[in-house]
Amino acid sequence: MSSYDEQYETEESLFGEPYPEFTAYIASNGSDGDALDLGCGQGRDALMLAEHGYSVTGVDASEVGILQMEERAGSLGLNVTGIVGDFYAFDFPQSYDLIVLDSILHFAADTAKEIDLLDRVLSHTRRSGLVCIFIHKNADKESALHHYLANKDEGWQLVHTEDIDYIYEEKRIDFRTAFQMYMAVIQKR
Ligand SMILES: C[S@@+](CC[C@H](N)C(=O)[O-])C[C@H]1O[C@@H](n2cnc3c(N)ncnc32)[C@H](O)[C@@H]1O
Repeated sequence: MSSYDEQYETEESLFGEPYPEFTAYIASNGSDGDALDLGCGQGRDALMLAEHGYSVTGVDASEVGILQMEERAGSLGLNVTGIVGDFYAFDFPQSYDLIVLDSILHFAADTAKEIDLLDRVLSHTRRSGLVCIFIHKNADKESALHHYLANKDEGWQLVHTEDIDYIYEEKRIDFRTAFQMYMAVIQKR
């Protein structure tokens, strides 16, 4: 049982549409291939990537979110496979052309686990592949991410960054808040 199960049951699309900036980036720079969305939730990014031709695997602890994503993918005829599980324990069965980490890195209490996950993500990305990371815009978190990337070897390049205006809404409790996300795309040379 995930802490998100109840919210996903009551909000059809808790995190809304994929960021338009991400969709535009994929439309211009994506390709078909294998994609992995870690912490995919209800699958807003996974479904968008599949619409752009990727074969997508989404992993999330929420069984509700995974079932909703699979149902939407099925009704749209999209190639998306869901796995219910802990992404920290994900046993990468292959490498991918694109890996998404959207709103799952916080660089706070679990930083060591997050760094270990990032290491495994990078080592399972194919040559020329992309890793798309979205974190809350915050100087400390951005600097933690840049510090991590600066210590990677030259096989990795930060190819795109962008600030994204975002509105989070929970309609059932009439809650709405606006903030910014930070998008960073790194590419394996
Ligand atoms: C803030 S939501 C973001 C969902 C999705 N990435 C999006 O942007 O729409 C975080 C998601 O990560 C999942 N999650 C958190 N910790 C997890 C873990 N250790 N393993 C698998 N999923 C996890 C939650 O269930 C939730 O669906």
